[in-house]
Amino acid sequence: MTSAISIKNLSKTYFKGFRRQRVHALRGIDLEVREGESFGFLGPNGAGKTTAIRILMGLINKGGGTAKIFGHEIPSRAARERLGFLPEAPYFYDYLSVSELLDFTGRLFGQSRAQRVKRADELIELVGLKHAGKSPLKSYSKGMMQRAGIAQALVNDPDLVVFDEPMSGLDPIGRKDVRDIILSLKAAKKTVFFSSHILSDVESVADRIAILVQGQIRDQGSLEEIVSARIGTEVIFGVADLSAEVREKVAGAAKRVRYHDGDMIALLEIDADIDAFVRSGHEIGARLKAVTPVNETLEDVFVRAASKGRSEEQEEDST
Ligand SMILES: Nc1ncnc2c1ncn2[C@@H]1O[C@H](COP(=O)(O)OP(=O)(O)OP(=O)(O)O)[C@@H](O)[C@H]1O
Ligand SMILES: [Mg+2]
Repeated sequence: MTSAISIKNLSKTYFKGFRRQRVHALRGIDLEVREGESFGFLGPNGAGKTTAIRILMGLINKGGGTAKIFGHEIPSRAARERLGFLPEAPYFYDYLSVSELLDFTGRLFGQSRAQRVKRADELIELVGLKHAGKSPLKSYSKGMMQRAGIAQALVNDPDLVVFDEPMSGLDPIGRKDVRDIILSLKAAKKTVFFSSHILSDVESVADRIAILVQGQIRDQGSLEEIVSARIGTEVIFGVADLSAEVREKVAGAAKRVRYHDGDMIALLEIDADIDAFVRSGHEIGARLKAVTPVNETLEDVFVRAASKGRSEEQEEDST
C-alpha cells in the first residue's frame, strides 16, 4: 500500500536577516503516514512543524531529501488534487459568509453550481456553522473561524487533510468539536495529518505520533509504542482508620504518596520490592485495594524529548 505521506531525509535551512544567519528548521526528517490513519505531529514552538507542512503543501521549497503524497513527488498537481489544507493562521476574505467562502473555493476546484451548493450544505453541517447563517466571517469568533477553515479545507473531498494547529486558541468545547471532526473524517476513511502542541488532543485522536524537536524526529510510532516504558507501580491501601503516625511507617518506602478519601495511593519505584511493601501495609492493618503498573505519560516523553533538544542546542551554541 502506498503511504499517504512519505518523507525521507527532508531538510530545510532558512537564511534570516541582513547577515543571512542560518536557521536549520528541518535537519533530515523521516516520516511515514499510512492511508486512513490520523497522525499527530507534535513538537514545541519553533520545532519545524509548520515548515514541514508548508513544504508538503508546495508553498515553500525543500532544502534536501524527498517528500511524496500518495506516491507523487511534491509539488505536483496529482498530489494537490487529493489534498485539503488548514493553515496555521488562516486568512480569508472576511466580508464573505461561510457559504460564499465555500462556494468560492468550490469554483477554484471547477465544481458545478449544483455540486457547490450540495457540498457547502454538507460541510456547514459537519463543522457546526449552520447557526452562522449569512453573517460575514469578520464577525466570527476564533472557534467559528477555525471551523470555517476546516470546512474550506474539505471542499474538494480530499483523501488527505493536513491541519496546522487545528485546536490552537480554542476553548475546551471548541477543541472537542475539532477532535470530533477529525474522528468523523477518519470514520470516512480519510487520512488526517495534524500538528499540535496540545498533548491531550493528540492522545485522544491520533493513531500514530511523531515528536519533532529542533528539526529532528525524536520519536515516532503508535501511542502505545511511545508511552510503553513502565516507570513504577501504584499501590492503593485503605487506611481510613489508621493514624498518621502508623501510616508513615509504610509511606516512607514509596517514591511518592498521596491520600484521597481514606486511601493511601503510593507510587513505588520501578525496581521496588512490591511484595515487601504490601506486607508492611498488612502489618500495620492497612487494607490492600489495588496494585497497578504505571506507564510513562505522553507528557513525560514530550518534555524529555524537548529538554534533550534544548541541551543539545546549548552545546552546539557553545562550540
Ligand atoms: N520564513 C522564515 N525565515 C526564517 N526563519 C524561519 C522562517 N519560518 C520559520 N523560521 C524558523 O524556523 C524554525 C521552525 O519554525 P516553524 O514555524 O516551522 O516551527 P513550528 O514547529 O511550526 O512552531 P510553532 O509551534 O510555534 O508553530 C523556527 O526557528 C523559526 O524561527
Ligand atoms: Mg507552526
